[in-house]
Amino acid sequence: MPYRTCGNTGIKLSALSLGFWHNFGGSSPTSKQTEIVHAAFDGGITSFDLANNYGPPYGSAEINVGKILSQMPRDEFLVSSKAGYDMWPGPYGMGGSRKHILASLDQSLKRTGLDYFDIFYSHCFDTSVPLEETLGALDTAVHQGKALYVGISSYLTEQTKDVLEICKSNGLVTPIIHQPNYSMLNRWVEGSLLDCCAKNGIGVIAFCPLFQGLLTDKYLKGIPEVSRARIQQSPLRKNEVSEQNIRVIQELNNLAEARGQALAQMALSWVLRSSRVTSALMGASSVNQIKNNLEAVRNLTFSAEEEEKIDRIVAKINLPKSLWATEA
Ligand SMILES: NC(=O)c1ccc[n+]([C@@H]2O[C@H](COP(=O)([O-])OP(=O)(O)OC[C@H]3O[C@@H](n4cnc5c(N)ncnc54)[C@H](OP(=O)(O)O)[C@@H]3O)[C@@H](O)[C@H]2O)c1
Repeated sequence: MPYRTCGNTGIKLSALSLGFWHNFGGSSPTSKQTEIVHAAFDGGITSFDLANNYGPPYGSAEINVGKILSQMPRDEFLVSSKAGYDMWPGPYGMGGSRKHILASLDQSLKRTGLDYFDIFYSHCFDTSVPLEETLGALDTAVHQGKALYVGISSYLTEQTKDVLEICKSNGLVTPIIHQPNYSMLNRWVEGSLLDCCAKNGIGVIAFCPLFQGLLTDKYLKGIPEVSRARIQQSPLRKNEVSEQNIRVIQELNNLAEARGQALAQMALSWVLRSSRVTSALMGASSVNQIKNNLEAVRNLTFSAEEEEKIDRIVAKINLPKSLWATEA
């Protein structure tokens, strides 16, 4: 497992990170959840990602993963959480206010049983709150010893520039990392965000590098009974897993085979082909997926011809507007 330095900091992330948005909810950790985390850690993954509302139900992923991590050596991995999206009822249950962020952080620490998060994120930009307030809350989290570092997620380039300016002029702890949506099928960060982060020494951890499973061989023969696309109100939408799109995915699969990779491996390698990306933040529902995906790091280079082929193939995909903020 390669470890990449996060921007201008001294902290390294494993090139692959594991996130707990799906498959880690429920009333208690299953043996499967424990095996997945252990397989990841044994394979060199030292970067784990949570948020207050991962589950379902909200909060349960923090409880389950907290129990699993409590049996692992705390100084040998990084764990992050986030606040910003809806979490509890009422006016303080979501958003970028100081009230929400610091209350949510306390709740997340309690649920996980951790003393601190390595990285604590503002999960999304909140247009209704002065950015100074959100960044001030993150700064407080570090001064309270509840977070070692802070990050931002899904902030657009101009918002990211504002963050840097405000932190600098107010002497606030500056985010070390940005967590945007980035995959072969959602390339908005290539517009200016990757350059902005690189220029300012901020690391980038790309979420949904497998487009929630679409960039794997999972849907090539239809939608399996047990899959993200089958869950109620799935964030992987029916019109994303359309017959037309699956024909495109088949072409990508052929190209991956020609590279000697599974499609999931190629999709992860592709996100990591630029050193501007610190880590690819994937999800998994089985130990086999983890083991398969770990192999991605064996080949992180693409020829110009392969890149062109990928560009030509993915241009044929037909996707609805992204669920997350993008500039495209
Ligand atoms: N900051 C944000 O706003 C935000 C938003 C979304 C996600 N995230 C973070 O990003 C993490 C990853 O998100 P994600 O789970 O959507 O990422 P993803 O890596 O794009 O998709 C993961 C899914 O792909 C399928 N998969 C993985 N490896 C496979 C393989 N080898 N073969 C076949 N299928 C495979 C599995 O689907 P099945 O479950 O169907 O088997 C798995 O659950 C989250 O856990 C979270 O930490 C952050």
